[in-house]
Amino acid sequence: MTATIIDGQAIAASIRAELAHAIRGAGFARAPGLAVVLVGNDPASKVYVRNKLKASAETGILSFEHILPEDTKEADLLALVARLNADDTVDGILVQMPLPKHIDERKVIQAVDPAKDVDGFHPVNAGHLVSGMPGFVPCTPLGCLKLIKSVRHDLAGARALVIGRSITVGRPVSLLLLAENCTVTMAHSRTADLAAECRQADILVAAAGRPRMVQGDWIKPGAIVIDVGINRLESGELCGDVAFDEACRHASAITPVPKGVGPMTIAYLLANTWTSFRRRTGLHKLDPGT
Ligand code: GUN
Repeated sequence: MTATIIDGQAIAASIRAELAHAIRGAGFARAPGLAVVLVGNDPASKVYVRNKLKASAETGILSFEHILPEDTKEADLLALVARLNADDTVDGILVQMPLPKHIDERKVIQAVDPAKDVDGFHPVNAGHLVSGMPGFVPCTPLGCLKLIKSVRHDLAGARALVIGRSITVGRPVSLLLLAENCTVTMAHSRTADLAAECRQADILVAAAGRPRMVQGDWIKPGAIVIDVGINRLESGELCGDVAFDEACRHASAITPVPKGVGPMTIAYLLANTWTSFRRRTGLHKLDPGT
Protein backbone atom coordinates (compact mmCIF):
# COMPACT_ATOMS: atom_id res chain seq x y z
CA MET A 1 0.00 0.00 0.00
CA THR A 2 1.19 3.52 -0.75
CA ALA A 3 -0.55 6.15 1.31
CA THR A 4 -2.38 9.18 -0.03
CA ILE A 5 -0.43 12.25 1.04
CA ILE A 6 -2.90 14.69 2.64
CA ASP A 7 -2.09 18.12 1.24
CA GLY A 8 -2.45 20.44 4.24
CA GLN A 9 -1.07 23.35 2.29
CA ALA A 10 -3.80 23.12 -0.37
CA ILE A 11 -6.62 22.53 2.14
CA ALA A 12 -5.42 25.47 4.26
CA ALA A 13 -5.22 27.68 1.16
CA SER A 14 -8.83 26.88 0.29
CA ILE A 15 -9.98 27.74 3.85
CA ARG A 16 -8.08 31.04 3.68
CA ALA A 17 -9.58 31.83 0.27
CA GLU A 18 -13.13 31.21 1.60
CA LEU A 19 -12.41 33.44 4.60
CA ALA A 20 -10.94 36.19 2.41
CA HIS A 21 -14.04 36.05 0.23
CA ALA A 22 -16.37 36.30 3.26
CA ILE A 23 -14.36 39.06 4.95
CA ARG A 24 -13.77 41.17 1.82
CA GLY A 25 -17.34 40.68 0.61
CA ALA A 26 -18.86 41.67 3.92
CA GLY A 27 -18.15 45.41 3.64
CA PHE A 28 -17.95 46.27 7.33
CA ALA A 29 -16.93 49.63 8.77
CA ARG A 30 -13.79 47.98 10.17
CA ALA A 31 -11.79 44.84 9.44
CA PRO A 32 -11.49 41.98 11.95
CA GLY A 33 -8.45 42.65 14.17
CA LEU A 34 -5.90 40.13 15.47
CA ALA A 35 -3.23 41.03 18.03
CA VAL A 36 -0.15 38.81 17.89
CA VAL A 37 2.26 38.97 20.82
CA LEU A 38 5.76 37.49 20.65
CA VAL A 39 8.09 37.59 23.64
CA GLY A 40 11.78 36.83 23.08
CA ASN A 41 13.90 35.38 20.32
CA ASP A 42 12.85 31.77 19.79
CA PRO A 43 13.65 31.29 16.08
CA ALA A 44 10.75 28.88 15.39
CA SER A 45 8.28 31.22 17.11
CA LYS A 46 9.53 34.14 15.01
CA VAL A 47 8.84 32.18 11.82
CA TYR A 48 5.37 31.13 13.03
CA VAL A 49 4.48 34.72 13.98
CA ARG A 50 5.70 36.05 10.64
CA ASN A 51 3.57 33.47 8.82
CA LYS A 52 0.52 34.34 10.93
CA LEU A 53 0.89 38.07 10.21
CA LYS A 54 1.34 37.48 6.48
CA ALA A 55 -1.70 35.18 6.25
CA SER A 56 -3.82 37.68 8.22
CA ALA A 57 -3.01 40.49 5.81
CA GLU A 58 -3.76 38.30 2.77
CA THR A 59 -7.15 37.38 4.25
CA GLY A 60 -8.24 40.94 5.05
CA ILE A 61 -7.62 40.70 8.79
CA LEU A 62 -5.87 43.66 10.37
CA SER A 63 -3.02 42.50 12.58
CA PHE A 64 -1.44 44.30 15.51
CA GLU A 65 2.10 43.11 16.10
CA HIS A 66 3.64 43.30 19.59
CA ILE A 67 7.23 42.10 19.66
CA LEU A 68 8.65 42.24 23.19
CA PRO A 69 12.19 41.55 24.44
CA GLU A 70 13.19 38.26 26.11
CA ASP A 71 13.52 39.98 29.53
CA THR A 72 9.98 41.43 29.50
CA LYS A 73 8.49 41.32 33.00
CA GLU A 74 5.44 39.14 33.52
CA ALA A 75 3.54 42.16 34.88
CA ASP A 76 4.26 44.15 31.71
CA LEU A 77 2.99 41.31 29.50
CA LEU A 78 -0.16 41.02 31.65
CA ALA A 79 -0.66 44.80 31.32
CA LEU A 80 -0.40 44.53 27.51
CA VAL A 81 -2.97 41.71 27.48
CA ALA A 82 -5.29 43.87 29.61
CA ARG A 83 -4.97 46.74 27.10
CA LEU A 84 -5.71 44.38 24.20
CA ASN A 85 -8.74 42.99 26.09
CA ALA A 86 -10.09 46.55 26.40
CA ASP A 87 -9.36 47.54 22.78
CA ASP A 88 -12.55 47.27 20.69
CA THR A 89 -10.61 47.02 17.43
CA VAL A 90 -9.00 43.77 18.63
CA ASP A 91 -11.18 40.68 18.08
CA GLY A 92 -8.51 38.04 18.66
CA ILE A 93 -5.46 37.89 20.94
CA LEU A 94 -2.67 35.39 20.35
CA VAL A 95 0.31 35.18 22.70
CA GLN A 96 2.85 32.95 20.97
CA MET A 97 3.99 30.00 23.09
CA PRO A 98 6.37 29.01 24.55
CA LEU A 99 7.05 32.06 26.71
CA PRO A 100 10.43 32.70 28.39
CA LYS A 101 10.89 30.62 31.54
CA HIS A 102 10.44 33.52 33.99
CA ILE A 103 6.86 34.10 32.78
CA ASP A 104 4.03 31.87 34.00
CA GLU A 105 2.22 30.79 30.82
CA ARG A 106 -0.89 29.80 32.77
CA LYS A 107 -1.26 33.31 34.19
CA VAL A 108 -0.99 34.82 30.72
CA ILE A 109 -3.49 32.36 29.23
CA GLN A 110 -5.94 33.16 32.02
CA ALA A 111 -5.51 36.91 31.50
CA VAL A 112 -6.84 36.80 27.92
CA ASP A 113 -10.55 37.67 27.63
CA PRO A 114 -12.21 34.32 26.75
CA ALA A 115 -14.26 36.17 24.10
CA LYS A 116 -11.00 37.10 22.31
CA ASP A 117 -9.16 33.84 23.00
CA VAL A 118 -8.75 32.71 19.37
CA ASP A 119 -6.17 30.12 20.52
CA GLY A 120 -8.86 28.44 22.65
CA PHE A 121 -6.37 27.95 25.50
CA HIS A 122 -8.32 29.76 28.28
CA PRO A 123 -9.88 27.40 30.86
CA VAL A 124 -13.32 28.83 30.04
CA ASN A 125 -12.96 27.76 26.40
CA ALA A 126 -11.37 24.44 27.40
CA GLY A 127 -14.39 23.91 29.69
CA HIS A 128 -16.79 24.72 26.85
CA LEU A 129 -15.09 22.10 24.69
CA VAL A 130 -15.31 19.46 27.44
CA SER A 131 -18.98 20.38 27.98
CA GLY A 132 -19.85 20.36 24.28
CA MET A 133 -20.76 24.06 24.44
CA PRO A 134 -19.85 26.71 21.85
CA GLY A 135 -16.53 28.44 22.46
CA PHE A 136 -13.14 28.78 20.83
CA VAL A 137 -11.49 25.48 19.95
CA PRO A 138 -7.67 25.41 19.60
CA CYS A 139 -6.50 25.86 16.01
CA THR A 140 -4.20 22.84 15.54
CA PRO A 141 -6.85 20.34 16.71
CA LEU A 142 -9.42 21.93 14.36
CA GLY A 143 -6.87 21.56 11.57
CA CYS A 144 -6.23 17.89 12.42
CA LEU A 145 -9.95 17.09 12.31
CA LYS A 146 -10.38 18.82 8.96
CA LEU A 147 -7.46 16.84 7.50
CA ILE A 148 -8.89 13.55 8.79
CA LYS A 149 -12.29 14.44 7.34
CA SER A 150 -10.73 15.22 3.98
CA VAL A 151 -10.14 11.47 3.59
CA ARG A 152 -12.91 9.95 5.78
CA HIS A 153 -16.12 11.81 6.37
CA ASP A 154 -17.85 9.56 8.91
CA LEU A 155 -15.59 8.80 11.86
CA ALA A 156 -18.20 7.04 14.02
CA GLY A 157 -16.85 3.87 15.58
CA ALA A 158 -13.27 4.42 14.44
CA ARG A 159 -10.56 3.68 16.97
CA ALA A 160 -8.49 6.84 17.41
CA LEU A 161 -5.17 7.03 19.22
CA VAL A 162 -3.83 10.43 20.23
CA ILE A 163 -0.20 10.49 21.32
CA GLY A 164 0.49 13.49 23.58
CA ARG A 165 -1.72 15.14 26.21
CA SER A 166 -0.89 18.84 25.87
CA ILE A 167 -3.61 21.45 26.41
CA THR A 168 -2.76 22.86 22.97
CA VAL A 169 -3.12 19.68 20.89
CA GLY A 170 -3.50 16.26 22.53
CA ARG A 171 -6.38 16.93 24.92
CA PRO A 172 -8.53 19.05 22.60
CA VAL A 173 -7.97 16.78 19.59
CA SER A 174 -9.12 13.82 21.71
CA LEU A 175 -12.32 15.69 22.63
CA LEU A 176 -13.01 16.59 18.99
CA LEU A 177 -12.59 12.96 17.95
CA LEU A 178 -14.84 11.86 20.80
CA ALA A 179 -17.48 14.33 19.58
CA GLU A 180 -17.19 12.60 16.19
CA ASN A 181 -18.05 9.30 17.93
CA CYS A 182 -14.59 7.78 17.71
CA THR A 183 -13.40 5.42 20.43
CA VAL A 184 -10.50 7.51 21.69
CA THR A 185 -7.35 6.41 23.50
CA MET A 186 -4.89 9.00 24.83
CA ALA A 187 -1.30 7.85 24.94
CA HIS A 188 1.60 9.70 26.53
CA SER A 189 5.14 9.26 27.82
CA ARG A 190 3.99 6.75 30.48
CA THR A 191 1.90 4.57 28.17
CA ALA A 192 2.99 0.95 28.73
CA ASP A 193 3.15 -0.38 25.16
CA LEU A 194 2.80 2.40 22.63
CA ALA A 195 3.44 0.16 19.61
CA ALA A 196 0.55 -2.13 20.63
CA GLU A 197 -1.76 0.87 21.09
CA CYS A 198 -0.79 2.20 17.66
CA ARG A 199 -1.47 -1.15 15.99
CA GLN A 200 -5.14 -0.89 17.06
CA ALA A 201 -5.71 2.62 15.72
CA ASP A 202 -7.74 3.44 12.61
CA ILE A 203 -6.83 7.09 13.18
CA LEU A 204 -3.48 8.01 14.70
CA VAL A 205 -2.66 11.58 15.75
CA ALA A 206 0.99 11.97 16.80
CA ALA A 207 1.66 15.06 18.91
CA ALA A 208 4.49 13.99 21.17
CA GLY A 209 7.31 16.22 19.92
CA ARG A 210 9.68 13.28 19.45
CA PRO A 211 11.29 12.93 16.02
CA ARG A 212 10.19 9.83 14.05
CA MET A 213 9.02 8.10 17.23
CA VAL A 214 6.15 6.26 15.51
CA GLN A 215 7.66 3.50 13.40
CA GLY A 216 6.14 2.27 10.16
CA ASP A 217 5.30 -1.22 11.42
CA TRP A 218 3.39 0.26 14.40
CA ILE A 219 0.75 1.52 11.99
CA LYS A 220 -2.39 -0.53 11.40
CA PRO A 221 -2.76 -1.27 7.67
CA GLY A 222 -5.06 1.37 6.15
CA ALA A 223 -4.88 3.80 9.10
CA ILE A 224 -5.12 7.58 8.72
CA VAL A 225 -2.01 9.20 10.21
CA ILE A 226 -1.87 12.86 11.27
CA ASP A 227 1.61 14.02 12.22
CA VAL A 228 1.57 17.16 14.38
CA GLY A 229 5.29 17.05 15.21
CA ILE A 230 7.67 19.66 13.86
CA ASN A 231 11.16 18.61 14.93
CA ARG A 232 14.41 20.09 13.68
CA LEU A 233 17.18 17.51 13.36
CA GLU A 234 20.85 18.36 13.86
CA SER A 235 21.20 18.27 10.06
CA GLY A 236 18.75 21.19 9.92
CA GLU A 237 16.11 18.98 8.31
CA LEU A 238 12.52 19.18 9.60
CA CYS A 239 10.75 15.96 10.50
CA GLY A 240 7.57 14.87 12.21
CA ASP A 241 6.83 12.43 15.04
CA VAL A 242 6.22 9.65 12.50
CA ALA A 243 8.84 7.85 10.39
CA PHE A 244 7.21 9.10 7.20
CA ASP A 245 8.70 6.89 4.47
CA GLU A 246 8.04 3.66 6.38
CA ALA A 247 4.59 4.85 7.45
CA CYS A 248 3.58 5.46 3.82
CA ARG A 249 3.80 1.71 3.24
CA HIS A 250 1.17 0.96 5.91
CA ALA A 251 -1.18 3.95 6.17
CA SER A 252 -4.01 4.71 3.74
CA ALA A 253 -3.45 8.46 4.20
CA ILE A 254 -0.79 10.52 5.97
CA THR A 255 0.16 14.16 6.46
CA PRO A 256 3.66 15.28 5.50
CA VAL A 257 5.95 17.51 7.59
CA PRO A 258 6.15 20.33 6.60
CA LYS A 259 3.00 21.24 4.59
CA GLY A 260 0.65 19.04 6.60
CA VAL A 261 -0.80 20.26 9.90
CA GLY A 262 1.26 23.49 10.14
CA PRO A 263 -0.62 25.56 7.54
CA MET A 264 -3.94 24.37 9.00
CA THR A 265 -3.14 25.94 12.39
CA ILE A 266 -2.83 29.32 10.73
CA ALA A 267 -6.00 28.87 8.65
CA TYR A 268 -8.02 28.12 11.79
CA LEU A 269 -6.46 31.03 13.67
CA LEU A 270 -7.89 33.28 10.96
CA ALA A 271 -11.22 31.41 11.03
CA ASN A 272 -11.45 31.84 14.82
CA THR A 273 -10.65 35.55 14.46
CA TRP A 274 -13.45 35.94 11.91
CA THR A 275 -15.82 34.05 14.26
CA SER A 276 -14.80 36.34 17.12
CA PHE A 277 -15.42 39.43 14.99
CA ARG A 278 -18.88 38.18 14.04
CA ARG A 279 -19.76 37.27 17.63
CA ARG A 280 -18.53 40.58 18.96
CA THR A 281 -20.43 42.54 16.32
CA GLY A 282 -23.59 40.41 16.70
CA LEU A 283 -23.32 39.08 13.14
CA HIS A 284 -23.18 35.42 14.09
CA LYS A 285 -26.89 35.57 14.96
CA LEU A 286 -27.62 36.39 11.31
CA ASP A 287 -25.19 33.84 9.92
CA PRO A 288 -24.48 30.96 12.30
CA GLY A 289 -23.08 28.65 9.64
CA THR A 290 -19.59 30.02 9.09
N1 GUN B 1 3.05 27.77 19.72
C1 GUN B 1 2.96 26.68 18.92
N2 GUN B 1 1.70 26.56 18.44
C2 GUN B 1 1.00 27.58 18.95
C3 GUN B 1 -0.37 28.00 18.80
O1 GUN B 1 -1.20 27.38 18.13
N3 GUN B 1 -0.71 29.13 19.48
C4 GUN B 1 0.17 29.81 20.25
N4 GUN B 1 -0.27 30.90 20.88
N5 GUN B 1 1.43 29.45 20.41
C5 GUN B 1 1.83 28.34 19.75
